[in-house]
Amino acid sequence: MEMKATNNSIGMPLLGFGTLIIGAAETISATRDALEAGFRHFDSAERYRNESEVGEALQAGLAAGGIARKDIFVTTKLWNTNHRPERVEPAFEASLNRLQLNYLDLYLIHTPYAFQPGDEQDPRDENGNVIYDREVTLLDTWRAMENLVDSGRCRAIGLSDISLKELVPLYESARIKPAVVQVEAHPYLPETELLEFCKEKGIVFLAFAPLGHGMRPGPLEDPVVLDIAERVEKTPAQVLLAWALQRGTALLTTPKSPARARENFDISSLPEDAFNEISRIQTRQRFNQVVKTGVPGFIAKGN
Ligand SMILES: NC(=O)c1ccc[n+]([C@@H]2O[C@H](COP(=O)([O-])OP(=O)(O)OC[C@H]3O[C@@H](n4cnc5c(N)ncnc54)[C@H](OP(=O)(O)O)[C@@H]3O)[C@@H](O)[C@H]2O)c1
Repeated sequence: MEMKATNNSIGMPLLGFGTLIIGAAETISATRDALEAGFRHFDSAERYRNESEVGEALQAGLAAGGIARKDIFVTTKLWNTNHRPERVEPAFEASLNRLQLNYLDLYLIHTPYAFQPGDEQDPRDENGNVIYDREVTLLDTWRAMENLVDSGRCRAIGLSDISLKELVPLYESARIKPAVVQVEAHPYLPETELLEFCKEKGIVFLAFAPLGHGMRPGPLEDPVVLDIAERVEKTPAQVLLAWALQRGTALLTTPKSPARARENFDISSLPEDAFNEISRIQTRQRFNQVVKTGVPGFIAKGN
């Protein structure tokens, strides 16, 4: 069964390309390669400091491929230093400009942590500790996000790096319910409770790091995954991406070469016994610590 083309209720292709890529040239070539391989869902963020390159690659790729804007799904994220309600719309407009778009398919609050407002994305005190902003709640920020949907320039809004405990009260108070929750998820971090809540409420669960950020050891080298890959004649990455789709999540992956883009887009479903074997893996490991402090890993300084 081909799985990649399926869209969910908000028109998001389930197989997404993530743009957390170090280097301008690398961002442009990987984004072009992804578009060419068939990816139509692109995940970016103000924090990745490469929205301009993503925008440039998308513009060129759409023109070259005769692809319409409406045929791609583009997401970006509000950074922690812009949680004050009056900063949300300017941050959104700045992202749209850099991406060369006039509307966004999805805008996410990147993390539930508010940092000191300002241009410094990573504000620290003299001891190197993050300076948080205690004057704004997540709901205050959410209200400003809702206004963006009202304005017609943002089709859907959601949250990232959020726990079920934080999501439930926000969900209950929200006038416009979160359409998407983006969190780390893979066989070592299945986030089953959060996934169940999302399914019950019709929220898209969007898994990042479905290959465990490519860390080794990690899910890409798990003996169960390696064994299944051999049995079904797919690569370990294809097995992990298929598992993510088959359990009802959308996913983001970041291939950085044309061959890997084709590999990661060529996903077909696993036999049920193989799917169940992966679901039974007991190893538990979180690879990204962003949920603890709001500071994501894997951001190159000055990128
Ligand atoms: N919300 C958040 O806080 C947050 C945090 C992190 C990421 N994200 C989003 O999620 C996206 C995906 O995350 P991710 O890039 O960590 O996901 P991932 O797909 O789990 O990991 C990517 C890593 O896997 C390797 N890889 C990719 N395809 C492979 C293949 N076919 N075989 C073997 N290795 C392969 C890559 O290695 P090479 O480098 O060697 O190519 C890369 O290092 C990001 O781009 C970003 O958009 C969001």
